Amino acid sequence: MSEPTAPDPATVCARPPVSPPSTIPPLAPPLQLSSVYQFADVATVDAVYEGEMRGFVYARDAHPNAYQLASKVAELEGGEAALVCASGMAAESALMLGLLQHGDRVALAEGIYGRTTLLVARELARFGVEYDLFDQSRPETLRAILTSRTRLAFVETLSNPLLRVADIAGLAEVARPAGVALAVDHTFAPLLCRPLELGADYVIHSATKSIGGHSDVTLGLLVGSKRDIARITPIASTFGLTGNPFDSWMALRGIATLAVRTERSTANALDLAHRLEAHPSVVQVNYPGLAAHPDHALACQILKSGFGAMVSFDVGGRVQAERFIKSLAHIPYAPSLGDVATTLSHPTTTSHRFQTPEEWSRQGITEGLIRLSVGIEAVEDLWIDLNQALAQL
Ligand SMILES: Cc1ncc(COP(=O)(O)O)c(C=O)c1O
Repeated sequence: MSEPTAPDPATVCARPPVSPPSTIPPLAPPLQLSSVYQFADVATVDAVYEGEMRGFVYARDAHPNAYQLASKVAELEGGEAALVCASGMAAESALMLGLLQHGDRVALAEGIYGRTTLLVARELARFGVEYDLFDQSRPETLRAILTSRTRLAFVETLSNPLLRVADIAGLAEVARPAGVALAVDHTFAPLLCRPLELGADYVIHSATKSIGGHSDVTLGLLVGSKRDIARITPIASTFGLTGNPFDSWMALRGIATLAVRTERSTANALDLAHRLEAHPSVVQVNYPGLAAHPDHALACQILKSGFGAMVSFDVGGRVQAERFIKSLAHIPYAPSLGDVATTLSHPTTTSHRFQTPEEWSRQGITEGLIRLSVGIEAVEDLWIDLNQALAQL
């Protein structure tokens, strides 16, 4: 036998490093970027695949950072399990691809995020899935459109952009006996209520928004029963919809401050909504915490920790909206939401730009509508900026 020789530097460079010789766990969650895990033998890989041994194989299927984030979000929502997806849209797609097949129908709330409507109305239609619209604040309108082919009802706790409230408990009373799964997009209302406790079957978050909280994460979450999530998870992996380690790690860090951010931004939003309502240049304010909001009573009933950080308001038309956006000194026009800093969006040129003017007017979305995502700044500073921009109108 020949003497073992030292490996060539090229080999040393390329080989994976040794594992640190520590059995003491770190306090902060380690970021584990590996896309794959190494196995001593075939029996071990068999045991992991068959569920006889705990472990990870391939990051698209599962990885430690997604496991930690999913556990945290399932606990927050009072759910049994959660799936981390590559974006909010990926979480919605995972749910729909997991649940639906050719010939099924979706009951879709009217006036929700434009891309969600597009996913159902345009993309799922290509696979023979059709849809019917209903008013999420009036469960009787869901009852009226249910058919024997309806499999899924999809709503938003607070709709984007008009902040209409979903009567989750009332909708569940209609959906459950009909065998229709109720999914609630909770992106605008994390921590304000728990849709699963109100009777929903699934909760969805775009973690890109408040959960991430700093506009540096793109991720989505689907929460549900252990059985449902176990069934959807391999489908999501096959379609390539699952989330990556780095964003999962970042989202977990974001959640650490979610409660204090929500408390502050919600208080700021209520204050600004009152001020905007009293301003002569503002045609209409949509905020469920205002007595004038059509769903105020329902909001008081289901939202136990405030009315959220989103406010939308109409400044009269496209020209006024453009002038207002340009006049702001500090609040950026950045078409997302949920950041620590206040940002704004203009739905007809961003989140709902793929819809026709007829579709906008059916939903009550106008070209003068501004959607404000309120942050954690001092509210006086926010008002100074908003007020001086309104004065330009
Ligand atoms: C209410 C709502 N749901 C879902 C999404 C989609 O999330 P993502 O951008 O992470 O795919 C958005 C995005 O704006 C949203 O506003």
